[in-house]
Amino acid sequence: MAAVLPPASSASSFVILSLLAALSFPLVSPCDRCVHRSKASYFSIPSPLSSGACGYGGLALGFNGGNVAAGIPSLYKNGAGCGACFQVRCNAAGICSKHGKTVILTDLNKDNGTDFVLSGRAFAGMANPGMSRQLLQLSIVDVEYKRVPCEYKGLNLAIRVEESSQKPHYLAVKVLYQGGQTEIVAIDIAPVNSSRWGYMRRNHGAVWDTSRVPEGGLQFRFLVTSGYDGAMKWARSVLPAEWRNGEVYDSGIQIEEIAEEGCSPCDEGGTW
Ligand SMILES: *[C@@H]1O[C@H](CO)[C@@H](O)[C@H](O)[C@H]1NC(C)=O
Ligand SMILES: *[C@@H]1O[C@H](CO)[C@@H](O)[C@H](O)[C@H]1NC(C)=O
Repeated sequence: MAAVLPPASSASSFVILSLLAALSFPLVSPCDRCVHRSKASYFSIPSPLSSGACGYGGLALGFNGGNVAAGIPSLYKNGAGCGACFQVRCNAAGICSKHGKTVILTDLNKDNGTDFVLSGRAFAGMANPGMSRQLLQLSIVDVEYKRVPCEYKGLNLAIRVEESSQKPHYLAVKVLYQGGQTEIVAIDIAPVNSSRWGYMRRNHGAVWDTSRVPEGGLQFRFLVTSGYDGAMKWARSVLPAEWRNGEVYDSGIQIEEIAEEGCSPCDEGGTW
């Protein structure tokens, strides 16, 4: 009987794809470089970001040379925004550089006064050469920012098995080094070479889990936003049968898709 049922995930993935397709933007232009204006401040110590809502732990401080940020709920997106990359620049005359700094979102910012709280390194990184001390003294600045693709040179998307996993009943994984400019909206899991797909659910941030853990080596499918709808990224062999808590496993694939937003203005030419 089970053999003729569709994969467990197909219904939910279908609904998600339909929802994504329905999100059209009739009043604004399609854009992958929507420019937003807000303010940014910074953490004077890095620890708030490493214990952040995304669940990256101390790993976050090694991301992107420590250029990480906490973002407001509309950027955090209940965890789907974890790992997203943004180019942020300030405009204090003479102090701020034109290009600003690219940061990775690793935490939720609950303070509604600024869209971002940056790591001190990222905040200082928005300055012109020699001006980082002056910038840090401002504490809070007006910024423009836009989403940009995440680039992990030479690194594939990876899966870290979390310490809370309990073989064979419970598997929790954290998604690391997520490239492209997308959100992961669903993750399916199955034994290698099998079509017995089950789904994982987002536990929090970048952490997904399931209490229906298939035996043996495991493959993953990632449904990501792409263009105006979705794309399925298939990693055919990720976890070995003898997967262990605390280990990081290379998925063998990387996400390069770009999801469109609808907005005005759009940084058409990618001028900064
Ligand atoms: C920010 O939050 C405070 C306290 O919750 C509230 O009083 C204030 O109106 C909020 N400001 C904005 C711009 O939402
Ligand atoms: C999966 O299929 C490939 C190709 O048929 C085979 O080489 C590999 O050993 C299989 N792996 C498992 C775990 O069954």
